[in-house]
Order: sequence, then C-alpha cells, then structure tokens
Amino acid sequence: MTPAPTRDDHFSFGLWTVGWQARDPFGDATRPPLDPVEAVHELAARGAWGVTFHDDDLVPFGADESDREKRIARFKEAVSETGLVVPMMTTNLFTHPVFKDGGFTSNDRGVRRFALRKVMRNLDLAAELGATTYVFWGGREGSETDAAKDVGAALDRYREGIDLLAAYVVDHGYGIRFALEPKPNEPRGDILLPTVGSMLAFISTLEHADMVGVNPEVGHEQMAGMNFVHSVAQALWHGKLFHIDLNGQRGAKYDQDLIFGHGDLLSAFFLVDLLEHGGPGGGRAYDGPRHFDYKPLRTDMADGVWGSASANMATYLILRERAAAFRADPEVGEALEASGLGELATPTLAPGEGHAALVADRSAYETFDVEGAANRSYGFVRLSQLAVEHALGAR
Ligand code: GCO
Ligand code: MN
Ligand code: MN
Repeated sequence: MTPAPTRDDHFSFGLWTVGWQARDPFGDATRPPLDPVEAVHELAARGAWGVTFHDDDLVPFGADESDREKRIARFKEAVSETGLVVPMMTTNLFTHPVFKDGGFTSNDRGVRRFALRKVMRNLDLAAELGATTYVFWGGREGSETDAAKDVGAALDRYREGIDLLAAYVVDHGYGIRFALEPKPNEPRGDILLPTVGSMLAFISTLEHADMVGVNPEVGHEQMAGMNFVHSVAQALWHGKLFHIDLNGQRGAKYDQDLIFGHGDLLSAFFLVDLLEHGGPGGGRAYDGPRHFDYKPLRTDMADGVWGSASANMATYLILRERAAAFRADPEVGEALEASGLGELATPTLAPGEGHAALVADRSAYETFDVEGAANRSYGFVRLSQLAVEHALGAR
C-alpha cells in the first residue's frame, strides 16, 4: 500500500516544478501553461502542505502594477481556500537576458543594482505571505571563460548583495532567513559557490551569517560527484540546513531533476534516514519543509504532472517507513554494535586529558595492540546489506 501524505509531513512544491512546460535547449514546450491557482488546488488535493515560487512564476517579468496586484490577490485566495502555506519564496535572476552575466555578480553595475531591487520587492511580498525562508540560487552567477570574470571581485559583490539584503530584512523586522543553493554548472559553464562546502565557507564571511544557511539540492551535489548524504550531514553539523531541495539524479551529467528516489535510490534511503533519525539521541535531524524541486518528465501530460507530484511524496514516505524499520531491527542493532559506529561519538581524549597526558598513556602507543586493531573486522558488509534489504522492503 502506498502511504498517503498529510499536512504534517510538510511536503512543499515549487510552482515552477509542476508548472514546467518542458521547454528544453532542444525543444519547445510539450505542455500548456499551468495556472498557479490550479497548481495550488491540485497540490493541496494530493496532500501537499506548502507551495513556493519565484517572483516571475506568479507575476510575469515586466507586468504592470495593477496586473501584479490582481495575480497576487487570486493566488492569496487560493492559498487561503486550501489552507496551503507559503514557507519559502525566491527570485528569478536568470531567465531575462538582462541577467545573462548574472545578477549580484554581473560585470555590469547597473544590472547588479537592478537585481538587488528585484529581490527587495519580492522580499516585501514574502513577508506579507508569511514565508520564513528566502532561497538564493545563483544560476547565472558564474562564467564560461576564466578570461571574463574576476572571481575574487565577484565574491566581494556576492557578499555585498547578501549583506545588503540581510540588513533589509532585519531593518524591516521580517522574520525571514536566507538559504543559499549551490550548483556546479548549468546554465553557466561554471557557477560560483558550486558545492555545499564552498557555500558554507562563503556564509561564514557574511555580516549576518547567523541568518544565512544552505538549501542543498540532491542532483546539484551529485552533478559535482559529491555524496549528498555527507554534504547534508555537514550542513546539519554547522547548524546550517535551513531548507532542502529533494529530487533525483543519475550521475555526473546535466541537471536531471528527476522524481525523488528515481536517481540514486540507496542514497535517497540514507538521506531520509538522516533527516528523520540523524539528530542527537536519535531524534529528527531536520524539521523544515521537505521541498521537491524536480521536473515532471517531458514526455507526459497532466497525468504525469500530478502523478509525479504524488510519486515524490509517496517515495519519501516509503523510504521513511523503510528507514524506521531499519532502525528498529534488532539484527541491525547488533550489526551497529559490531561496527563500532556508536563508539565514534566518544571523544578521543578523556575529560581533561591533554597532549601531555596522551603521551604519558603507554597503552595509547607503546603497548597498544596494533596487530589486534589491524586484524579487527568492522562488519560493514553485513550492516550495508541489512540496509539494502530494508531499503528494498525484503525485511
Ligand atoms: C535549478 C535550481 C532551481 C532553484 C530555484 C529556486 O537547478 O534550476 O535548482 O530550481 O532551486 O530557482 O531558487
Ligand atoms: Mn536542479
Ligand atoms: Mn533547486
């Protein structure tokens, strides 16, 4: 039986996901435009909890003020009718040709100022709609040729932009945090701040670093050959997992944006296990939205659009059940014990022990049973196979 999602599961979707008309670099749209109001109703009917969007997903770029107000009013009505929330909003700083060399890091200073104003206007709307997270995905911040971009200066401008916008949020008393989303490439040949690690390092240099975290996306990290579970675990370790984009990807190629779990399924299992059971004392490690940033296959019409929305949620819920079964299995408990995994939580030094005491401890070196430790089996094969069998529903 496929589990049914409820609002308590905190599943959210971008308007640009189900609304993707499937235009790609080689072909035209295969689906008609989707009215955001219809998207809200359809998502709510399937058990979603939240809807997210870029400014331009709701109001086309360049629309006049009265048109903008009408569209926002219709959307607000749909949201209140369905009880959906708007947990996150973001800015489109990549579609219009004005952003062809980036938004915050364009070589053109006028474009940078325009980009900041575009974000500020949408931050006002985000506060009005009650969004608590604002995502920054810098898809056009980058280059195709190293001759054309001063990376150090670009990072200075990136920081200047985020610092200014954070001050804007603080000065207006908006209860919004920022989540920066890394991606290694596409649409730029190389995008600045390509991985979770580089993003975390950048965040540590910001004036309002405390209100800025990351929005890692499964496929983006995997495009760079990274282990997504490790990246998310490190973001959690820094207290910086403010949001997450769930989807599927098969290896280092273009951004596939597949349904969650339809790429590296085993990694998806361990990811759900981490989010649901990876906290201190086995509690939930992440309490934020489970946000899907994927694309319904270009081959499919409305059936595939709504089928894929449900598929994302079902896959997450199935993996959540599988991960809970894995954690509850006594055989897994034994294998974990044998693996020494729990021992890693014990500090290497005793309380109050420093380097002098470590040197004085002959059992740590002079009499340490090196051969014994070298010949130990950790039993990782057994543990790994138990995980696979649980993931497959074979136990
Ligand atoms: C992509 C990105 C985007 C962002 C979105 C929110 O690869 O296209 O993942 O979908 O998540 O722009 O800022
Ligand atoms: Mn993506
Ligand atoms: Mn994304």
